[in-house]
Amino acid sequence: MKPTHKLLFVLCPMLVLGFIYYSSGKLHLPVWGQKSPESDAEETAVALTKGAEVKRNPELETDIPVGPIVGSGTSAAPPNDPLSIHVVSSPSKMYDKQGFLLQLDTKLTPELAYKYGNLSEGVCKPGYAAAKMTAIYPKFMKAAPLFLDRNFKRLAKVSSHLPPFGFKTQERIIDSILTITKNYGLGEALDSLSCKRCIIVGNGGILSNKSLGSRIDDYDVVVRLNEAPVNGYSKDVGTKTTLRITYPEGAIQKPESYEKDSLFVFSAFKPLDFKWLKHMVFKEKLRGVEGFWKSVAHYVPREPTEIRILNPYFIQEAAFQFIGLPFNNGLMGRGNIPTLGTVAITMALHNCDEVAVAGFGYDMSTPYAPLHYYETVKMSAIKESWTHNISKEKEFLRKLVKANIITDLTHGI
Ligand SMILES: *[C@@H]1O[C@H](CO)[C@@H](O)[C@H](O)[C@H]1NC(C)=O
Ligand SMILES: *[C@@H]1O[C@H](CO)[C@@H](O)[C@H](O)[C@H]1NC(C)=O
Ligand SMILES: *[C@@H]1O[C@H](CO)[C@@H](O)[C@H](O)[C@H]1NC(C)=O
Repeated sequence: MKPTHKLLFVLCPMLVLGFIYYSSGKLHLPVWGQKSPESDAEETAVALTKGAEVKRNPELETDIPVGPIVGSGTSAAPPNDPLSIHVVSSPSKMYDKQGFLLQLDTKLTPELAYKYGNLSEGVCKPGYAAAKMTAIYPKFMKAAPLFLDRNFKRLAKVSSHLPPFGFKTQERIIDSILTITKNYGLGEALDSLSCKRCIIVGNGGILSNKSLGSRIDDYDVVVRLNEAPVNGYSKDVGTKTTLRITYPEGAIQKPESYEKDSLFVFSAFKPLDFKWLKHMVFKEKLRGVEGFWKSVAHYVPREPTEIRILNPYFIQEAAFQFIGLPFNNGLMGRGNIPTLGTVAITMALHNCDEVAVAGFGYDMSTPYAPLHYYETVKMSAIKESWTHNISKEKEFLRKLVKANIITDLTHGI
């Protein structure tokens, strides 16, 4: 062996050892299932393999959105450090950039098998969605209230962000709205259920001709989005609507098309939206509609007590933690707004025991299939969106389906 080779032979292990020593100060040993203060920042986890062989993950060098996801006790993220390594307690477990287990399967972990294994088919499993979510995404923190209530300023993660990721600058207007809506839950009957099964009904044409209406109506909570109609489509989409989640441009415009007995759940995407909501709640005449990207409803035939404000945390969490959209200093930017459907699913993971979806997913291989179940616009009309990133969103939803966290009745995801 040439002397230079010999030297390299000695030098290499030394470099490796030096590297390990250097990085040891940065090693964190998160307790399984608990959130370490830094874990938000470390979207990428690399398992330390046997034999102290340290692998550098090229993903680590990329632009990971580690902005200040401010929260109770969560410190601002340290700067991207290409050498930081996330050691997980089981060396065989590897996580992707978002913090999801790479190897997804539908099997229950032994604890969950013990907890749910002997429940018979079809019985609601308490805590199931959150438990399964935590199994593939250890950072998952279940507590996140569904709607804003009079105490909303305590919600640290959203109080420091502007809409759509929080409510900063809108506190006064929200205060005045919540003073007269007076209700901040799903209603007595649903709030007291010990196990809730929810379904999010997307607007996809994939719902057509599948006669899923009665299956959808069987869920405790049926969530519909924007103007998606029920009348005339009930065989396929059901008749029950517990929540209708809406932003101003998506709201049903004809007062007679609103169904009875549903809660009008408002989701804000820009500061102006709160102003619109205030007009709707106080039944004030809407003057000047500049700033909306299409025409908006001028009247919402709902009592203030039937109106709720969706916690904007679900938009923030879906965008930056689950999907991994560009953080853009916490501001709305190109391709960083999740679709309302994914926001609703995120909401359900926190607030429902079991979660199902129907009417999600676009099959681009069928350009002439209808985009929505209630209109004739074709799939091919879908344009490259400035606000959304449909393909990245789908990657996230695929993980939920693959790990059996959500059930997809129409198999479109
Ligand atoms: C499963 O069965 C065991 C033994 O029969 C019982 O103790 C336990 O409570 C059951 N678990 C559930 C979640 O019902
Ligand atoms: C659903 O069925 C109706 C009547 O059979 C048909 O006209 C329509 O094209 C079908 N829609 C889809 C999306 O297959
Ligand atoms: C969506 O994300 C992919 C991958 O990060 C990126 O290449 C693409 O430009 C994004 N699209 C939009 C509309 O932002």
